[in-house]
Amino acid sequence: MSLNHDFDVLVIGSGAAGLSLALHVADHAKVAVLSKNKISSGSTSWAQGGIAAVLDDRDTMESHIEDTLNAGGGLCDYEAVKFVVSQGKEAINWLINNGADFTRDTEFDKEKIVDGDYHLTKEGGHSFRRVIHNADATGKEVQISLEKKVRKHPNIKLFEHHMAVDLVGTKKPSAKMQKCIGAYVLDTKRGKIDVFRAKATVLATGGASRAYLYTSNPDGSTGDGIAMAWRLGCRVANMEFNQFHPTCLYHPEARTFLLTEALRGEGAYLLLPNGKRFMDRFDERAELAPRDVVAHAIDHEMKRLGVDCLYLDISHKDDDFIKEHFPTIYKRCLKLGYDLTKDPIPIVPAAHYTCGGVMADLNARTDVGNLYAIGEVAHTGLHGANRMASNSLLECLVFANSAAKDILKNLKKEKRFGEIKPWDESRVTDSDEEVVVSHNWNELRHFMWDYVGIVRTTRRLQRAARRIDMLAGEIREYYSFFRISPDLLELRNLVTVADLIVHSALLRTESRGLHHTLDFLDKDPDMDGRSTILKPPRRPHSR
Ligand code: FAD
Ligand code: SIN
Repeated sequence: MSLNHDFDVLVIGSGAAGLSLALHVADHAKVAVLSKNKISSGSTSWAQGGIAAVLDDRDTMESHIEDTLNAGGGLCDYEAVKFVVSQGKEAINWLINNGADFTRDTEFDKEKIVDGDYHLTKEGGHSFRRVIHNADATGKEVQISLEKKVRKHPNIKLFEHHMAVDLVGTKKPSAKMQKCIGAYVLDTKRGKIDVFRAKATVLATGGASRAYLYTSNPDGSTGDGIAMAWRLGCRVANMEFNQFHPTCLYHPEARTFLLTEALRGEGAYLLLPNGKRFMDRFDERAELAPRDVVAHAIDHEMKRLGVDCLYLDISHKDDDFIKEHFPTIYKRCLKLGYDLTKDPIPIVPAAHYTCGGVMADLNARTDVGNLYAIGEVAHTGLHGANRMASNSLLECLVFANSAAKDILKNLKKEKRFGEIKPWDESRVTDSDEEVVVSHNWNELRHFMWDYVGIVRTTRRLQRAARRIDMLAGEIREYYSFFRISPDLLELRNLVTVADLIVHSALLRTESRGLHHTLDFLDKDPDMDGRSTILKPPRRPHSR
């Protein structure tokens, strides 16, 4: 039997963004938090390097703003950058007050940069040490501390293994604006689709890097929120800017394992197979250039030399320093046969972060009334053409706070819940062709990697667009005949997201930030400040 739930606020996603928002509103509202897998299964738990914020008296907001704008390649929204950076310290204090612990300075930090207690590390693009962290497992600390608080709050109900299928909008033609009134949600344990009605709905579903074959992201990063918002009528922006992290471990048993940029921040070198450094040929900041520059340089050198990987080496640093600051990476590498204190570690770039997303303003409002987007799912203007390291968790925290304030203000006006019809399964049957889903999923991720990766051409993008059209047709057909499953839903969303990435990339006839095409090698000054905005046909969801 299907169930009906009514909550003031429906939060779809249980990472840093979703949990923070839930905590901010829960004293004044009944909140449901959904996670399609376990509560800690999003990218947040995997975050390593830390959170960027101006915490040292010698650092300045102006410097953090300028670094973010520079990394963003002329496409950041200055107001959004200022908004986020100016709330950095407050956001970190809020986390600390909610139980998060961060690494302190120790005897190993010979060059003691911070006046206060906390050790601040450095990452690409930052001109100052401003990344607060918990050794090399910052995300785990953030996730665990927020989870503890959320589980204890009487007004928050957690729904694990509940996957949002689609958002539901008001369909009244008289309504000036489409409003979101809740969502259809698949309880993946019961196999039933429940109705969640809410006065405010928040997308906190994370990114879409699983569109690519090689990625640093967990399984669930399939762009569900972007696809659902698009289907409901929200614009999306800058989807061509998918960030590739320069240093994922190159090992058949650990293809998604990241080697944090903080390693380079603390002095690690990038090496060619002959043991020589090469980054200074590409950028004067060498290993600490922004991520787009470093990933592109690695890709270039791998192709030039015809090799499968390059190397990251921190073995020249003190052994105890390495073990203390990078304990997770040290242990994981050791298990796989590499000693971080002695060996150069094989690395390759992999899809890491979705800089574009659902367009959201400074209160995280989207184009659809009562629908908010926060965290990696959103495009707020902070990242432009390339996100600077460790600005993402900060963005989650800041927009969770601003969205919460806006939601609480508006809740008073929303007196009643909207009407949502039960999910209609009368015309579908159980699938006898699950192989179609797994085959199409593999095909998509392969051609996205080959044709829409670090280096693009118009012809490759067009080839990808044709494949996507074909897959989209097959999936539409499959979706209308067969009972839905989590894999089918993720594939359906990934195809939509891939389509948005490819079409945005085709519209950007220049190379800028993370979008590098051999057909337009330079930046086009006429495109300075111009985001790629895609507008969907306005078609409220119905099955
Ligand atoms: P996530 O934490 O990804 O959570 C998404 C949530 O949405 C999950 O709970 C998921 O179950 C749920 N969900 C998704 N779809 C549905 C659906 N259809 N129905 C129900 N629930 C759904 N950033 C930094 O700033 N600093 C770092 O050091 C850093 N390191 C990183 C290291 C790695 C390996 C990775 C992968 C990312 C890193 N990032 C880092 C990026 C950062 O971790 C993410 O951008 C951020 O955690 C995203 O948080 P979020 O709350 O938006 O989404
Ligand atoms: C890392 O630790 O290298 C990831 C940081 C980030 O993605 O911001």
